[in-house]
Amino acid sequence: MKTALITGATSGIGYEFAKQLADRGFGLIVVGRRVERLQELKESLSVPVDVIKADLNNQQECFGLLDQVADKDIDVFINNAGFGLCGKFVETDVNREVSMVQVNDIAMHILFKGILQQMNKAGKGQILNVASSAGILPAGPYMATYYASKAYVVSLTRAVDVELKESGSGVKVSALCPGPVDTEFNDTADVVFALKGISARQCVSEALKGMDRAKTIIVPSLRMKLAMAFQAIVPMPILVKLTARQQKKKMD
Ligand SMILES: NC(=O)c1ccc[n+]([C@@H]2O[C@H](COP(=O)([O-])OP(=O)(O)OC[C@H]3O[C@@H](n4cnc5c(N)ncnc54)[C@H](OP(=O)(O)O)[C@@H]3O)[C@@H](O)[C@H]2O)c1
Repeated sequence: MKTALITGATSGIGYEFAKQLADRGFGLIVVGRRVERLQELKESLSVPVDVIKADLNNQQECFGLLDQVADKDIDVFINNAGFGLCGKFVETDVNREVSMVQVNDIAMHILFKGILQQMNKAGKGQILNVASSAGILPAGPYMATYYASKAYVVSLTRAVDVELKESGSGVKVSALCPGPVDTEFNDTADVVFALKGISARQCVSEALKGMDRAKTIIVPSLRMKLAMAFQAIVPMPILVKLTARQQKKKMD
């Protein structure tokens, strides 16, 4: 049986990955802080599920997670845990932002590298780093740190993808770049979406299809694919102002 490791599996996109990968016959290792939710998820699925409690805001717990899965044969890693924060940079809480950079970037980085090294030794595997359409756009006024944190995920994934291909590695890496998805993200980020979100189910189903085709950048939904094509031809200063207008609506 193949095994998938999923961080942030307690809700939203990670939870949906757990369900759809279980439907594909994967055994699961699921990670999050709200361990009671992971136990409920385990009980609802008919595949073997290992539950690991970890706070990825803590670097020691990131390395501890790698130690706990060091002897596992992981076929798919969904590097998903993350959160957002909305507001004017001059006013937002620096502690929440540092925590966001820790979870969205540092933990993502530590786990990406650790699992990649493990998979590379095995000569196979697939990693999906969950970024955002925010990571493709040049900047996101009023959600500045979140956009910057997701640009890091996209840039890192693109670079490592080329290194792996040039070295003939059997491991494939992708970045998932959704627009708005209906999850608990908004409650955490304290925003309302300016655009209607897609369901986590649609997001994950399109993500898995993108992984099947070994796409490096996966953008779910036709509307976001068109938006990403449009942004590539708009001059950067105009695009940043347009993004600012969209972001401001989220604070209403
Ligand atoms: N929803 C969107 O519109 C959207 C769009 C683009 C990208 N994304 C990205 O998709 C990913 C999943 O978000 P979501 O929309 O599914 O939001 P969500 O429903 O709020 O889920 C976030 C997940 O991350 C986990 N997490 C957060 N902080 C953590 C920490 N310190 N330690 C361990 N786990 C932590 C949470 O688990 P616990 O709280 O149980 O620890 C939860 O399972 C994020 O990286 C997000 O940036 C979301």
